[in-house]
Amino acid sequence: MLSISAEEFLIWKKKQLSKGGHQESFAVLLDCLGGVSRSDINLIAINPNEILHLKKKLEILESVWDDHLLKSCPIQYLCGITFWRDLKLKVTNKVLIPRPETELIVDIVFNIFRRKSEKLFFAELGTGSGAISIALALAYPLSNGVATDIDKDSLEIATKNFISSCKQSNLKFYCGNWWSPLENFKGKLDLVISNPPYIPKDTYEKLPIEVRNFEPKVALLGGEDGLKHIREIIQKAPLFLKEKGWLILENHYDQGEKIKKILSKNKFTSIEIVKDLSGIGRFTIGRYK
Ligand SMILES: C[S@@+](CC[C@H](N)C(=O)[O-])C[C@H]1O[C@@H](n2cnc3c(N)ncnc32)[C@H](O)[C@@H]1O
Repeated sequence: MLSISAEEFLIWKKKQLSKGGHQESFAVLLDCLGGVSRSDINLIAINPNEILHLKKKLEILESVWDDHLLKSCPIQYLCGITFWRDLKLKVTNKVLIPRPETELIVDIVFNIFRRKSEKLFFAELGTGSGAISIALALAYPLSNGVATDIDKDSLEIATKNFISSCKQSNLKFYCGNWWSPLENFKGKLDLVISNPPYIPKDTYEKLPIEVRNFEPKVALLGGEDGLKHIREIIQKAPLFLKEKGWLILENHYDQGEKIKKILSKNKFTSIEIVKDLSGIGRFTIGRYK
């Protein structure tokens, strides 16, 4: 641990932020590599006579920040860590950085299944870093979950994240295309969640460099209209869900109405578009019959 006066630290912080970048990214750097949390920063802002303890030298933090600004590489990849809900997750450029707006998917589940003692059997399709499934496995300790992904590297990271997040064993990981690893679970699932790749092809080409050049294409691109994977997931869902089982999907800002129609065609009921905190119809949910 290195000790530094709060005053010196605050001057250094101001200098770094004056070079560019987002406050949020800087906070991730300080927390992940520097060992300085947001609440530490709030504290020293009101008491600049404090002494701050850092896990890494300022020069090291500065070189990572410069690297981030120069290459537009997401700070989470440079630090190898991200925070999501109350989880601290390992991330590499093999997995999508789980987004804050996706955190709400867990709250949608909480609203549907209100008792934490519920013995659910849930599946997540396209788990990436494992964020959603791990949050659910922790919140419903008597439930069992299966998390799948087509990408082996993602599953390796998701498995490590689960092991480092808890001592539970109620989540298993399977590799394969959407439903194919779940053949043994036909008609058995109470709940299926997915944040599949849903970016339409022409939008993908225009994504900011920090996303397009660094995050996995397989995690983002949803075919010509963005709905390729969503259609496949919905069409096969009735084979795997129990009667009255729920399907919860994250989607692009303007896909909700189209997804509602696909759900309805496939005999889903209680179909609803759920807005995120910015008022965008970010999720579409439905119940199988
Ligand atoms: C948008 S990311 C979501 C990751 C994670 N669930 C999250 O919310 O942060 C989509 C995930 O779906 C996976 N994926 C893409 N195509 C797939 C397929 N055909 N079958 C299974 N998983 C797939 C990707 O590897 C990626 O991890």
